[in-house]
Amino acid sequence: MESPQHSIAKADEALLAELGYKQEFKRAFTPLEVFGIAFSIIGLLPSIASVLFYAVPNGGPASMVWGWAVASLFILCIGMSMAELGSAAPTSGGYPRMTWMNYSYTSGHHSLSSLRCRNLLSWIVGCKSFTSIVTSRTSIDWGCAVQIMAAASIGSGQTFTATSAQTFGVYVAIVLSHAVICCLGTAVLARLQTVYVVLNVGLCLAVMIGLPAATPKENMNSASYALANFTNLNGWPDGYAFILSFLAPSWTIGAFDSSVHISEESSNAATAVPWAIVSAIGIAGILGWAINVSLAFCMGTDVDSLLNSPIGQPLAQIFFDRFGQNATLALWSIVVLAQYMMGSSMVLASSRQTFAFARDGALPFSSWLYRMNGFTKTPVNTVWFVAAISIIFGLLSFAGPQAINAIFSLSVTALYIAYIIPIAARFAFKNDFKPGPFNLGIFSFPVAVIAVSYMFIMDIVFFFPTTPQTDVANMNYTVVVLGGILMLSIMWYYCPVYGGVHWFTGPVSNIEMLGEEGASSIRVSVEKNVREDIVEPSVGT
Ligand SMILES: *[C@@H]1O[C@H](CO)[C@@H](O)[C@H](O)[C@H]1NC(C)=O
Repeated sequence: MESPQHSIAKADEALLAELGYKQEFKRAFTPLEVFGIAFSIIGLLPSIASVLFYAVPNGGPASMVWGWAVASLFILCIGMSMAELGSAAPTSGGYPRMTWMNYSYTSGHHSLSSLRCRNLLSWIVGCKSFTSIVTSRTSIDWGCAVQIMAAASIGSGQTFTATSAQTFGVYVAIVLSHAVICCLGTAVLARLQTVYVVLNVGLCLAVMIGLPAATPKENMNSASYALANFTNLNGWPDGYAFILSFLAPSWTIGAFDSSVHISEESSNAATAVPWAIVSAIGIAGILGWAINVSLAFCMGTDVDSLLNSPIGQPLAQIFFDRFGQNATLALWSIVVLAQYMMGSSMVLASSRQTFAFARDGALPFSSWLYRMNGFTKTPVNTVWFVAAISIIFGLLSFAGPQAINAIFSLSVTALYIAYIIPIAARFAFKNDFKPGPFNLGIFSFPVAVIAVSYMFIMDIVFFFPTTPQTDVANMNYTVVVLGGILMLSIMWYYCPVYGGVHWFTGPVSNIEMLGEEGASSIRVSVEKNVREDIVEPSVGT
């Protein structure tokens, strides 16, 4: 007799085989731990600390409370659409592969141009999601370094202010230590996820209960202020400022798709991964809203002084005002720890995704990156590759605060482009999309329309500078960096001889025996035919 666990493992492996891959990772993550990955990457409180900066000047309490609520609902739509895709194709390769499968062809006249378009779209999605995952890792670790420096400032009685070089040094130490941790093996990391979840929830409860308790009655804001006062400091029209405040929840509830990248390491992935995504967004949306309400009641009414405090982070200043120096230091060190853990989850996800791209041959040095360390059973080479790129991105901090800000918003804009293409491709082109166990039925289409429209609008919003009075030093460099990377990836694709157009034929299967066995192999053999189709004509050109 087979044990239930054994048969789940077999079903996972069979589904992966149906998608054209063989099992390479150990399936070390239970469903709760997959949820833990998604939830700890959201890292609610530390993330809110990093982006409170966006919501406070763009509407103050009303934007913190209602902007969060409205944006969370849109983000939930994105999450549900992505969960459907993740359920249908639970591989670490995620979106490029989904795009490739969803951008299909009508049998009989699948022209070469439509196949090329499909490969190019997968290529762009791959580049964008690689960009996004490395930049979010950079921004999280950078945020952690900044928070450590804020702690030093609080501890020194606000006499210490870190230089760029000091912050960069701390940042490098964080990146390197994360790389070491992520080489230790997935079992250790999986066990740590439970600690992450407990720590994150504990921190949220401390703010939701501890902060109101520590605020004297007479300093508590009135409900009419906390829920309805709209303070617009940056000078954009009110409605636009309100939409700008959505940047805070969009950045916070960002890389929830990380659980997709560990699909090949989780048991019962086709169900566990989509539910991890949806429940992580739902819980983060509700807890985050409660935290914002608590802050709106306890932060006082002098919004200007919060923004311009010497500590440099509005949340740290609110803590300082209510809890005093020592308690703030204690609480803040837990915030730093949670942020650090969020970074290690991110490194885990980014190295897995890089491994999957290397498997598809879509990165430089792919054959070196696509190597599993025999001792730790983790992709050690990709962990160090991602760490090296993160350190290079970190050097941008020396170019000034706006340059490093571009890295922050880049992580969201690039991610949204990588989401939009596979979601849209599923509906825009005739295809053989086969829904997984997580499926919205007739709501799939309307939810996808809402998700894609929201991401499209937010991508445009992110390109605008934070204030209307802009100059060269304060412009938003996101559009420059994002456009630059897009241009480079397309140039690389069309580059003579070495470009992807000559060899990139979509995600590569690592299974030899294609199309032999029963109904499950139909899709695999179809893909194989497509690949042969595209190889033949390109030989002649
Ligand atoms: C919001 O609160 C500030 C500070 O108390 C006050 O100056 C402002 O008039 C209020 N705005 C609205 C729209 O109530």
